[in-house]
Amino acid sequence: MSYPHDYEYSLQQPERFWLKQAQRLHWFRDPQTAATLKPEGTADWFADGQLNMAFCALDYHVDNGRGEQTALIYDSPVTATKQRFSYRELRDQVAHFAGVLKQHHVKKGDRVVIYMPMIPQAAIAMLACARLGAVHSVVFGGFAPHELAVRIDDAKPKAVITASCGVEVNRVIAYKPLVDKAIELATEKPAQVFVWQREQCQAELMAPRDVDWQQALTQATPAECAVMQATDPLYILYTSGTTGKPKGVVRDTGGYAVALRYSMDIVYGLQPGEVMFSASDVGWVVGHSYIVYGPLLTGATTILYEGKPVRTPDAGAFWRICEEYGVQVLFSAPTAFRAIKKEDPAAHALQHYDLSALQRIYMAGERLDPPTLAWTQEVTGKPVYDHWWQTESGWPICANPVGLTEYPIKPGSSTLPVPGFDIRILAPNGEELEANQQGAVAIKLPLPPGCLTTIWGDDQRFASSYLSDLPGYYSSGDGGYKDDDGYVYIMGRTDDVINVAGHRLSTGEMEEVLAMDPAVAECAVIGIADELKGQVPLGLVIIKDGIAIDHAELSARLVQLVRNEIGAVACLKQIHVVPRLPKTRSGKILRRLLRQLADGEANVSIPSTIDDPNCVDELRTQLTR
Ligand code: COA
Ligand code: AMP
Repeated sequence: MSYPHDYEYSLQQPERFWLKQAQRLHWFRDPQTAATLKPEGTADWFADGQLNMAFCALDYHVDNGRGEQTALIYDSPVTATKQRFSYRELRDQVAHFAGVLKQHHVKKGDRVVIYMPMIPQAAIAMLACARLGAVHSVVFGGFAPHELAVRIDDAKPKAVITASCGVEVNRVIAYKPLVDKAIELATEKPAQVFVWQREQCQAELMAPRDVDWQQALTQATPAECAVMQATDPLYILYTSGTTGKPKGVVRDTGGYAVALRYSMDIVYGLQPGEVMFSASDVGWVVGHSYIVYGPLLTGATTILYEGKPVRTPDAGAFWRICEEYGVQVLFSAPTAFRAIKKEDPAAHALQHYDLSALQRIYMAGERLDPPTLAWTQEVTGKPVYDHWWQTESGWPICANPVGLTEYPIKPGSSTLPVPGFDIRILAPNGEELEANQQGAVAIKLPLPPGCLTTIWGDDQRFASSYLSDLPGYYSSGDGGYKDDDGYVYIMGRTDDVINVAGHRLSTGEMEEVLAMDPAVAECAVIGIADELKGQVPLGLVIIKDGIAIDHAELSARLVQLVRNEIGAVACLKQIHVVPRLPKTRSGKILRRLLRQLADGEANVSIPSTIDDPNCVDELRTQLTR
């Protein structure tokens, strides 16, 4: 098997190729068809196959000799806890909690919102939903009640699952009051809230809505796995789009399982029994695919880490974990390695640890900048791979296919399209561009298994967001190019999405929040370059005529407003009060120009459509002060 062979095979004979990959899994009913094409050019995958994701991830391994192998390691420096779950223990705990959900009438097709910190119960909750066929929607714990409420109203869940608190480096965050507030704000009221009580903080429960997870276990019996069609949704994962309303990416069951299992072999080269450490959060797609489902489908061991790359307690945290658990594959965002490099540039901490088991390091979530790549390679002596993907794709679109053929690493590139992804670089008119020409990165339809099937409850938005700009293609929202060897370089978003410390955020959403303030007449939020976090948001506001307010006071108020409405994770810390914003004559704010000015770029191209060229120098002075 080689990469060129698999790649061609996947595009020329997708039906045979994917049915073959499907054999890596245990099906209740084997699929006879791979793709069923739909009018808009996308496909349903394995439509006649039946399976259960939790069965494939747990029961199958227990039944096939892995019952006593460690499935999940919980390592929490913030609570000084370490815990191991064998496949049997994890299966039993998942089945038991699924029994609790079932007793409270959660059934196949119901939605369940999960708002949890990085504790094993987060994975147990996800897998318990999968076991019953309920559709989970995990919401990142760093989001504020308003964000949670928006997601509750969209998903209309029968239940919410939470924990009494999350533990950050310097504080304990009570989650239950945030959930209470979100439900108060939401129009759709879930019938039940299941709460895992942590010893760091006990939540107050209000019967009959709130259910104490630990107590409920004493009255429940384990639930069996539901038989799911491959096309049944496994989860909804909300991600930032260009507007304030997040997009509920819908993931199917069978296509996703096949794609993840395949990726574990060819992208990560991870074998059953080996250990994967994905330092991310279950609230993000990386957490879904490579903390929970991917490693477990493979019969590997996964690490669920409740801590940071630095400060818990130091910059040696990742290296300690790699040694302690014999990690083969380490995966995180470049920002995490930049944080380690900043605190420990000479990697002194690393000298205390034995990384001999570690084979490969992977990064994603933002472009792996060449200096971070070089530093990580140099201090660890390990191969470091950039790979590109999105919440929408669910698994890597571009990667170094090490499980098939290993290619030389080129800094700045996420290497080659993964089998199944037909990547083209297109001009705005849809014409394909030559090598080395930058354009929109598009994927020829149909998308391979594992990718989003629609936007929850909004097929129209799915089509308008991804399929209509470039007919016949999926528009990724990223710009980039291919070089003469076909290597893909992703250069950044072409829309208003920004990436802050590996967290995907919408500037449009932040603008909506700033505009809520009574003193704000107009505003713009842009992403500016940041040495540690890759990008951070910067707010520019115009004060309403006749309002006299101290600028520092207004800035502090707006920073707090965004923190309250979106969450601390938005990281909006800088606001500039400006007299005017650069606009086109038709009134569109020139955000690209603003970004260039704020980043201090020397050669700023001023669009000919600008309404008032005089504002450019004025803004340049203010933004670079
Ligand atoms: N619950 C509550 N609050 C959270 C949170 C959570 N799950 N996650 C983050 N926050 C808060 C933080 O406490 C911080 O609050 P503060 O402004 O009061 O300090 C704020 O949100 C910003 O968090 P973060 O962006 O994570 O900054 P940081 O300074 O705490 O850490 C890094 C910086 C780079 C170490 C950290 O962002 C990191 O490890 N990033 C990796 C990202 C990642 O895993 N991405 C997924 C794709 S692979
Ligand atoms: P998310 O949906 O949170 O995974 O964010 C997806 C976005 O992050 C992509 O559209 C890219 O803009 C960016 N991204 C993720 N991985 C990479 C990468 N390896 N190189 C460049 N950009 C990336």
